[in-house]
Parts: sequence; structure tokens; C-alpha cells
Amino acid sequence: MTKRPVVIDCDPGVDDTLALMLAASTPSLDIRAINPVAGNVGYASTSQNALRLRDLLGLDCRVGRGATQPLIAPPRDAGEIHGTGGLGGYHLPASTRDFDPDYAWDVLYQEAKRANGSLELVTLGPLTNVAIALLRYPELRQLIKKITCMGGTAHQGNTNVYAEFNIFIDPHACDIVFRSGIPIAMCGLDGNDSCMLTGEEMFRLFDQPSRVTPVTSHIAHFIHERNTGWGLPGSTIHDLVTMACFIAPEIAVYEPCYTTCETRSTLSFGQTVVDLYHVSGKPPNVDVLLRADKQVYYTMVNNMMAYFTTH
Ligand code: RIB
Ligand code: CA
Repeated sequence: MTKRPVVIDCDPGVDDTLALMLAASTPSLDIRAINPVAGNVGYASTSQNALRLRDLLGLDCRVGRGATQPLIAPPRDAGEIHGTGGLGGYHLPASTRDFDPDYAWDVLYQEAKRANGSLELVTLGPLTNVAIALLRYPELRQLIKKITCMGGTAHQGNTNVYAEFNIFIDPHACDIVFRSGIPIAMCGLDGNDSCMLTGEEMFRLFDQPSRVTPVTSHIAHFIHERNTGWGLPGSTIHDLVTMACFIAPEIAVYEPCYTTCETRSTLSFGQTVVDLYHVSGKPPNVDVLLRADKQVYYTMVNNMMAYFTTH
């Protein structure tokens, strides 16, 4: 089987954790690196969580040293949404292995060169590492086959009225990445919501006995209680939906759109401005997720839990 080389850039993070599990349970992937970035919680936590999740998932990959703050915007996090330490209060054992000696942007470039143009990138957090890599290595534009990005929205935001968290934290990085010319699939809040899970579906999935169930059950109940507390009808596990769309592109329906990022407005700072109806006359640069097949997504996650009964 020809494996798909991939680097995963993330800010673990409760939903990042589930997304990494799905990737680790997919034999067709060749996970070259998990690159942490400051986002959901501070870099000290996201980076340690990346090391510990590498151990938990039995991965033999690099963990680069990522960006500790956004390029220009003031540092912010979502600790109130991801709990202390970023995993909903769950504490994984300290890792016995260390970070890669190189920075995340250097790791990304090295792996892109090694994959000779076949490397794909999945981003589950702010795009700071990727933007730095593009500024440091312009030739990276020809070396990354595709970016599948959890970020943005063509409709309402979750951080301000129009901005999604990952993009809001570092909109200048998003602007650099969206202008790069690299093929981009943007799995935003709205498209991901097609795969919203009810509480019953969440617990049916993540309470199943397996080696990782202590973590998945804790996270599922944490997410469900948080979201129902907000009055939401269910839970969209955004990074997990994005990873499923990367692994199985056939489940996703995309619309190629001209998409930019608002970096100046105080009212809509961090908004992904998606030309969904093609009125700008500008050529599409981003494939924007409209919806994904929830049934297949559910089956993929169910298969993930089954995988960890024997691995
Ligand atoms: O807005 C949702 C995104 O922000 C997810 O990636 C979540 O982990 C947070 O990083
Ligand atoms: Ca994330």
C-alpha cells in the first residue's frame, strides 16, 4: 500500500486529540510529524500534549518545536473551553521522549523535501507555524501537495460574530497561507456542522471499551456537557470532522471560492471572507467545505474505536 505522507499541525486540545487518534488508526497514513502551536491553551500545554499523545497513540513521528504566539496579534487562548491543560482536565502521563531538535517550520520543510512534492498538511490550530514556514522557505509552495485546514467559516463565527477561533488567533498567518497558491480545503464551522453528533451518538461512540476509552470518554462527556451548557443541540467535533475529510475526501462536498481573511477590522477581525456566490470576479483559491457525509464520518470514528481494541 502506498502510504500518504502527512504532517499534522495542531493545538491539542480536546478535539485535536480525537483527530490525532483517527489519524493514528488509519494505516494508509504515514504521519511524519505532529507540530504543536499555541492556540487552545498556551504553547507549554499544547506542546506537552503533543508529546504525550504521540506516546499514547504509539506513533513514531517527529514533534517539532512550534510557535509560542501569533505572528502579530496578541496571544489569546481558549482555556475556558478546553479545560486546564487543554484536555478537558484529563492528564496524560509525562512523555519520556523529547521534541525534535528542529523548529516546526523546519520540520515541515524537511519532510516536504523528503516527500518530494507528495506531502500533505492537516492544520487543526492557528496557522502560525505554516506561515513561518512559507516565509522562511518560499519553495514550500511547490512542495506541499494540499492543505486540509480546520478553520474559518462562510457564516457565523465562534470567537467573534464572524471569526472562527483558529483563524481569529492568527489572521495574518491565515492571510499568508491563503495567498500561497497551495491547494487548500477549508473545513469551517458551517460545513463541519453537517456532522454534528447528539449526546447519545457521542457516548455510543466514545464510551466503547478500548485502550483509549479513558481519554475518549472523558473528552466526549467534557465536550457534551460544555455544549449542552451553551444550549447547543449537539456537538461538532471540528478537528475530527476535518481529519475525516482529509482521510476520506469522498465524504466531503466543497465549493471552490475566492477566500480572504480580515486582518484590520475591529468588528470582524479574523473573519474568513468567503465569496460563496462568486460575486468578486476573483479566481477561487480555497475549496470551502459545504457538508460532509455524517453516516460515513460516524462509521470512520466507530472503526477508530475498534482499532484501539487491538492496537
Ligand atoms: O474553532 C474550532 C477550532 O479551534 C478547533 O480546532 C479547536 O481545537 C480550536 O483549536
Ligand atoms: Ca484545534
